[in-house]
Amino acid sequence: MSGSFQDWMKSVQAGTETDMSAYLPAGDVVPTKLHAAMRYALLGGGKRVRPLLVHAAGALSGADARALSRAAAAVEMIHAYSLVHDDMPCMDDDELRRGKPTVHVAYDEATALLVGDALQAQAFKVLADADTVPPARQVAMLRLLAQAAGSAGMCGGQAIDLDSVGLALSLEQLERMHQLKTGALLRAAVVLGALAGKDLLPAELQALDDYSRAIGLAFQVVDDVLDATADSATLGKTAGKDAADNKPTYVSILGLEPSIALAEQLRQDAHAALVPFGDNALRLREIADLIVQRKA
Ligand code: IPE
Ligand code: IPE
Ligand code: MG
Ligand code: MG
Ligand code: MG
Repeated sequence: MSGSFQDWMKSVQAGTETDMSAYLPAGDVVPTKLHAAMRYALLGGGKRVRPLLVHAAGALSGADARALSRAAAAVEMIHAYSLVHDDMPCMDDDELRRGKPTVHVAYDEATALLVGDALQAQAFKVLADADTVPPARQVAMLRLLAQAAGSAGMCGGQAIDLDSVGLALSLEQLERMHQLKTGALLRAAVVLGALAGKDLLPAELQALDDYSRAIGLAFQVVDDVLDATADSATLGKTAGKDAADNKPTYVSILGLEPSIALAEQLRQDAHAALVPFGDNALRLREIADLIVQRKA
């Protein structure tokens, strides 16, 4: 592991951008509006935290670059689809995402619906087309991503989020919602990277699971904090939206300072979980720091 985190991050982000562009149909392929809108939703923005996690975990299992490229693209496609639908009028009704008009604003609602559907399908195709992963391993990766994306993962969390407007959730309920709507895909990113290479020891898999749970929850705690404290220009999405929509968040239920303290505690938990990997887990530790210390 050599070089700065910044350089490594930029190189993974740039590689992910190039690869994802290649994994999508060109914008002039019929149906052109749908393909152009899929590219609009997926390319040219976003922190690419999930791809970073895939690559950092993949380094621990010695996974090959082609397998990691596909796993990273697949989980980012699911994430981008979740954002397109999250922003639609029937969900959070947001007009700004990644510093640009949301897909239903730039195009139309039906197109946004189809962009999400098609990005989700494309994610599984990209993973299924991997030709450097043994078939049984590939099925395990597909299954993992499906589980994390569906009603037992991200979609389930989104359903709880929408059903919870105006409710004072208990801390347990709030944690469960956050672990599903955001944690599930982040955890999947880590495990996909690990699965793409050689078998890890049970203790190593447990360490990665502990790490993933900590950063998965921390990510949404920080998202809630930033919604309450940052401005829209910095975030590239509408600030103050959670309070305006009466959403239960860590900030609304625990308060701002305790939420910031919780995120810091989770960062330390994530670091502690990685001890068995020693220096090899440097990038995963740096990603935990990024998740908690980010300003957008
Ligand atoms: C925002 O995710 C939505 C959540 C799951 C909290 P990110 O903060 O990862 O958004 P991008 O991909 O960087 O735009
Ligand atoms: C979104 O949570 C989680 C998913 C998209 C799965 P939020 O609704 O808090 O995300 P932002 O704040 O709009 O990015
Ligand atoms: Mg939402
Ligand atoms: Mg939202
Ligand atoms: Mg939010």
